[in-house]
Amino acid sequence: MTHVTQEKWSSGTAFLLAAIGSAVGLGNIYRFPYVVGENGGGAFVLLYIAIVLVFGIPLVMTELVIGRSKQLPPISAYRTLSEGKKSRPFWTLVGFSSVLTPLGILGFYFVIAGYTLNYVFAMIMGKFNDLVPGQTEAAFQDLLASPGTLIFWMTVSLVVTAFIISRGLKAGLEKAVNILMPMLFFILLSLVIYSAFNGGMVETFKFMFTPDFSKIGANTILEATGQAFFSLSLGSATIMVYGSYLPKDVSIPKMACGVAFADTFVALIAGFAIFPIIFNNGMELSSGPGLVFETLPVIFDQMPFGQVFGILFFLLLAFAAITSTISLFEPAVSNLEEKGIFTRRKASLVVGFGLWCLASLSALSLNVFKDWHPLTFNSTLENKNIMDLLEYLSANGMMLVNSFFAAIFIGWIINRKDVLDELGLGDSYLFKFWRLIVKVLVPVVVGYLLLDFLGYGFF
Ligand code: PFF
Repeated sequence: MTHVTQEKWSSGTAFLLAAIGSAVGLGNIYRFPYVVGENGGGAFVLLYIAIVLVFGIPLVMTELVIGRSKQLPPISAYRTLSEGKKSRPFWTLVGFSSVLTPLGILGFYFVIAGYTLNYVFAMIMGKFNDLVPGQTEAAFQDLLASPGTLIFWMTVSLVVTAFIISRGLKAGLEKAVNILMPMLFFILLSLVIYSAFNGGMVETFKFMFTPDFSKIGANTILEATGQAFFSLSLGSATIMVYGSYLPKDVSIPKMACGVAFADTFVALIAGFAIFPIIFNNGMELSSGPGLVFETLPVIFDQMPFGQVFGILFFLLLAFAAITSTISLFEPAVSNLEEKGIFTRRKASLVVGFGLWCLASLSALSLNVFKDWHPLTFNSTLENKNIMDLLEYLSANGMMLVNSFFAAIFIGWIINRKDVLDELGLGDSYLFKFWRLIVKVLVPVVVGYLLLDFLGYGFF
């Protein structure tokens, strides 16, 4: 049973803002800087940009084509587009897998979004003023060891997200991104200017743009691809669903370039907000997740107006997280609503409750269930707790799987003519070039990365 026609974005700009909101998230501001730090800077940044250009933009276009051509959510889109094909059940399964993936991501993403809210609160309360050495590490470890606090802030981020989703596309998502995205850009810019006045810009430039190719290995390529896919929200149905609300007269290639450009720009700018103050204070760069939650509070404590900028920084992270969590929440709700199984409100409640259970389990795996490693049959998985598993399997594995099949679907299964009409590039060289990438290059490279992920890599 197919339900009412879906709401549409009011304009291409509304879509763009929401899709950029989805792409710009913890991946850009919290993860990108430390992954760059861990992988030696310039060479990784260049590799990352190349991957966004060669695979990222074509794959965003691919997902938009799948979403918009029938203006249906992923499961129905795959089902309808493969009508009459023997492989139809398989493609419906791919639709299911695309819709389940963002739920897996939310299982850990809500917990980290909760950290950021906790830090906004802690900063406002002056918890990080007049620090003594080691205090921020202890505070972060304390947070991870406190199930109640983690679950409380995770719940806040989940309730805000579910509330926005339950209000629908225009009154919920569009309104939220219209408020949050300008604030996000404003805060980010203020932080960069603040950093610029405090020195360390030259070192940052050198660090981010001087490539040392000896630092690139097979693993770096996997890491950079994973980071690019995660950052562009690929392989998790969100771009597809946002695409299904895109009016037919909006150009897909332009939108895809806009999203990829803005997302990469914000990731780089986040580097320029964070690295200068680190270099200037002689702090360690490659401190993993601790970079944001342990190192930065120390620096904010030492800087003029540090508390204000600390509050702004964690607010920035929280806003970025919420505009991403709404996009991760939408595919499941959109499918349930379209099938007429639930109203949007009920769907938000049901999905929200399921996610609350999953994210609570994830929060508990940092403390109460710390030593519970459920998947012991495989050497890569045997030391991972629930939260690590959700991240590894959904954000690394399933995103690649879904992207791989989306490319095969568009490249080999759907009629060339239908794709041509939807994309609006005409039968040009650009179209042929895009199609070649999607048909051949993406399956080969992403297929290889998948083999590598499964432990069968041969480089
Ligand atoms: N792109 C988001 C980030 O960089 O944090 C994360 C994300 C959002 C991944 C939506 C996948 C997705 F569908």
